[in-house]
Amino acid sequence: MESVTVKSPASVSNLCCGFDILGMALNEPYDTMQLIKKDEPGIVIQHTDAYLLPVAADKNIAGVALQAMLNELKYKNGFKLIINKQIKPGSGIGSSAASAAGVVVAANELLGRPFSKNQLVAFAMEGEMIASGARHADNLAPCIYGGLVLIRDTLSLDIVQLTTPPLFITIVHPQIEIKTSYAREILPKEIPLKSAVIQWANVAGLVTGFLKNDYELISRSLKDVIIEPVRSKLIPGFEAVKSNSRQAGVLGGGISGSGPSLFMLSENQKTATLVEVGMKAVYDKLGIAYKTYVTSINQNGVTVMKS
Ligand code: HSE
Repeated sequence: MESVTVKSPASVSNLCCGFDILGMALNEPYDTMQLIKKDEPGIVIQHTDAYLLPVAADKNIAGVALQAMLNELKYKNGFKLIINKQIKPGSGIGSSAASAAGVVVAANELLGRPFSKNQLVAFAMEGEMIASGARHADNLAPCIYGGLVLIRDTLSLDIVQLTTPPLFITIVHPQIEIKTSYAREILPKEIPLKSAVIQWANVAGLVTGFLKNDYELISRSLKDVIIEPVRSKLIPGFEAVKSNSRQAGVLGGGISGSGPSLFMLSENQKTATLVEVGMKAVYDKLGIAYKTYVTSINQNGVTVMKS
């Protein structure tokens, strides 16, 4: 096989209470990437999107992730990578993770699948580091494994796939950029025990709700008393979106990853579409450009399209 094309999905991480440990892949939007073997060494990157991302391999998230894999293999030849991003960088729906996960899955496919999914997450994390300045796999792991996952331990990459009842996800992406590295810098370094107790009770409740198909428990547990109070200040319309979504009958939701996108979970598509109407009303009123998606959980993660 000389060339492979993959679809790499957006993802929602944190899911309110699960900062850095919970994430799910989405069916929409997704990036498309083509990876082509070449005989000469080196990684050549071309972007066919309009985001003006760096094309030098050591500055590009996908380039760094791919190089990490090639170093491990002591691979001598090179690759050409053509990236068409649909997930805007700095959107909070896993744009950098889609780049990093997509390329490592594509390379693994081209090289005869020498690596496990866990190893692919580790390579991709090298790329993700450029965007966020920290090692976290809550967008990468769902991108590579598919579905909704818990990262029980980031260091050893103890990744647990969770089942869920049917869920519909409404995303609004106000067209402002929040850099993940900045959104992490402003977080408190220490938290009161009282807040920690509330947060880990909600994580346990949320995971149990998913596994038991208990929508009410999911709804009660979609709370974040630690990160959201700090980051929500960066997102205009945050409270109004929450309030409109509640009126539409949502299960709950909050900031997607480090923002500015917001996500809301619904039990059915009709509610998810009503939530979208409420989101649009908020940003139309504020005069801020936005994009919305009504989608569902992508159970497959990065998918190989054609060779
Ligand atoms: N868990 C990370 C954060 C995700 O919230 O900073 C970044 O996309």
